Amino acid sequence: MNIPVKTTDASYDVHLGENILHDFCGQYKALLEKADQLVIITDEHVWSLHEQYVREHFSFPFKVYIVPNGEACKTFDSYFDVQTFLLQESCSRNSVLFALGGGAVGDLTGFVAATFMRGIPFYQIPTTILAHDSAVGGKTAINHPNGKNMIGAFYQPQAVIYDFHFLATLPETEVRSGLAEVIKHALISDSKWVNEFFELPSIKSIEKETLLKWIEKGIRVKAHIVELDEKEQSYRKYLNFGHTYGHAIEATVGYGKITHGEAVMIGMIPALMLSEKNGNVAVGYTEKVYEIANRLGYNFQHVLNCSFEQLAAFMLKDKKTTNGELHFALLQEIGEPIVQVISMSEVQACDEQLRKWIKEGI
Ligand SMILES: NC(=O)c1ccc[n+]([C@@H]2O[C@H](COP(=O)([O-])OP(=O)(O)OC[C@H]3O[C@@H](n4cnc5c(N)ncnc54)[C@H](O)[C@@H]3O)[C@@H](O)[C@H]2O)c1
Ligand SMILES: [Zn+2]
Repeated sequence: MNIPVKTTDASYDVHLGENILHDFCGQYKALLEKADQLVIITDEHVWSLHEQYVREHFSFPFKVYIVPNGEACKTFDSYFDVQTFLLQESCSRNSVLFALGGGAVGDLTGFVAATFMRGIPFYQIPTTILAHDSAVGGKTAINHPNGKNMIGAFYQPQAVIYDFHFLATLPETEVRSGLAEVIKHALISDSKWVNEFFELPSIKSIEKETLLKWIEKGIRVKAHIVELDEKEQSYRKYLNFGHTYGHAIEATVGYGKITHGEAVMIGMIPALMLSEKNGNVAVGYTEKVYEIANRLGYNFQHVLNCSFEQLAAFMLKDKKTTNGELHFALLQEIGEPIVQVISMSEVQACDEQLRKWIKEGI
């Protein structure tokens, strides 16, 4: 199955399905044969799990460069090391990169591709559920000690090859993390879809077919919004639903100590509370989402390890904050996102409510 993505800069396809890596090689044969070198950038963990599958199904000669797992690869050092490798291997403007991994490898590889010799083509081969989001849309970045994703570029891939084969090895923590972005895509697009999550007894109970259907829907939501607004001038801000407070939690708890998705799930609760107050979301809806999030094992205790002052300080220096005003993605109705200016005291009231729920164990 293909989902087309058309932005002002580029048009490309997201290919989805089980065991599609080999077919992709056939479909893109003419393009890939023109390249002087194909280089797969991946992380240690993904490569140890999937080297054999890739060697069996990727039908062209390739080189591989292995970076550290997870967020540790989004450093200046890693970025520099990949560039050094490409230069040492005599890569040129005719070389092509492949990001094989989760969002971290995708973000790093995309940024390397955007800047090596002023830009070379790259393909995303996402291996996590979360990367159904990060691999689509062309945001690439590395981190700076002063902030996450601070150095980057909008740079679209040539295609995204989402081979479900890779998902089989994902640990439950990563399924939970990725599912949060899927739930976000549901909340900002389709209230009936959200109801499907309310019926889930646990993460383990999710059937593979259901998960794949949700991933496809999530990609469609993301692709549609990116098409409307590639460079985050307007509609793309909707994708930040849950991220203002979520990013503050992620940064305060510490990257690597909480997954991105878990932080986003936590961040969606204050965003929903604000949507009840400022939009037409039914009173009590947030509590329902909070309950299902607990049932699915999202750990809200992290909030109690952060002071509101820490979170507020982070929200104020977020790159989405302008002149000290918080531009919050909210829901007018479930499935209907809006962006509103919200005062810090309104956020604080939601933070207090959330802490109360966590302490009372509702
Ligand atoms: N560019 C964007 O639009 C965008 C959007 C959302 C998130 N992000 C970024 O994505 C990153 C998070 O992505 P992520 O959650 O995929 O994390 P990740 O890339 O750090 O991967 C998480 C862990 O899962 C492992 N892993 C990956 N695939 C696996 C598999 N198939 N089986 C077993 N283990 C596997 C990795 O080795 C890693 O240890 C963050 O850096 C975030 O900033 C970017
Ligand atoms: Zn996110």
